[in-house]
Amino acid sequence: MATSPHQPVLYQPVLDLLEPLDGGRYVDGTLGAGGHAHGILTASGPNGRLLGLDVDGEAIALAKERLDKFGDRANIVQASYTTLDQQLYVIGWDQVDGILLDLGASSMQFDSPERGFSFMQSGPLDMRFDNSLGQSAAELVNNVTEEDLAALLREYGEERKARRIARAITKARPLQTTSELAELVAKSVGRPQERIHPATRTFQALRIAVNTELENVKAVLPQALAALKPGGRMAVISFHSLEDRMVKRFIQQHSRPPAVNPDLPPSSEHWEPNLKEITRKPVTADEEEVQLNPRSRSAKLRVAEKV
Ligand SMILES: C[S@@+](CC[C@H](N)C(=O)[O-])C[C@H]1O[C@@H](n2cnc3c(N)ncnc32)[C@H](O)[C@@H]1O
Repeated sequence: MATSPHQPVLYQPVLDLLEPLDGGRYVDGTLGAGGHAHGILTASGPNGRLLGLDVDGEAIALAKERLDKFGDRANIVQASYTTLDQQLYVIGWDQVDGILLDLGASSMQFDSPERGFSFMQSGPLDMRFDNSLGQSAAELVNNVTEEDLAALLREYGEERKARRIARAITKARPLQTTSELAELVAKSVGRPQERIHPATRTFQALRIAVNTELENVKAVLPQALAALKPGGRMAVISFHSLEDRMVKRFIQQHSRPPAVNPDLPPSSEHWEPNLKEITRKPVTADEEEVQLNPRSRSAKLRVAEKV
């Protein structure tokens, strides 16, 4: 099937690998505008059902409109995927046939300057997926110590010039807009050595910190595993290596026997896998998709099946 510019990332691979079935129960933990959810509901018709979660109120409103035609087959809730257990309990679902997590920010969020995710257009330094909760990126950069800021940029942005950037930010603050921050970072790192904008890593790091993204992924993976029926599949799309590493390790830990240490008594005898790797290597976007949607270049899809 041809990829259209409005399709969510890795749309067809997600559907091919989740294999939605008529009458199945599915969870989309990161509903966004509901593109993947639309595909899952269509493929699992006429009786498949979907629970869709997102923390962003604007995304929820759009997804409700888009999925309205599926009636009560689509159950849409504004909540974090970290509350998956609880959400399933509330609607009385014990186990499900498939779970999708398409992590990170949506194109809608990146393209709305007022959400503060993008260094391409000026807007308030916000970056919260749920802009009614928690501290914004401005509150974070304007109050954190230089040392903690440098550590955060290094850890979440894998930024080699973290110390220099942290010093420039703490000297120039208070900062209020994305363009102020982007220009400051560009100036402090000097001549760019890569093709990406010099503020890319700083923005990534702040977004991860503001939304506790890594903690969230860590919290949801065991819940997703527990919620799957045997034969049910989880599909996770990540956009940066920190997230992808967590997903990869989780799947490997539950699908591959622990390495045997010859100095210890054999303990792996009773080990049994909980998951089967469906994608030993992550699925990535093809050339056509990358051309239409450059953001898909960094997407990695991993899929595993409950044993
Ligand atoms: C890449 S987009 C998903 C796009 C979606 N697959 C589609 O087809 O349009 C990621 C979404 O996850 C949401 N999100 C981020 N953290 C979340 C969390 N902890 N719980 C629920 N949703 C979250 C964001 O608000 C954003 O709308």
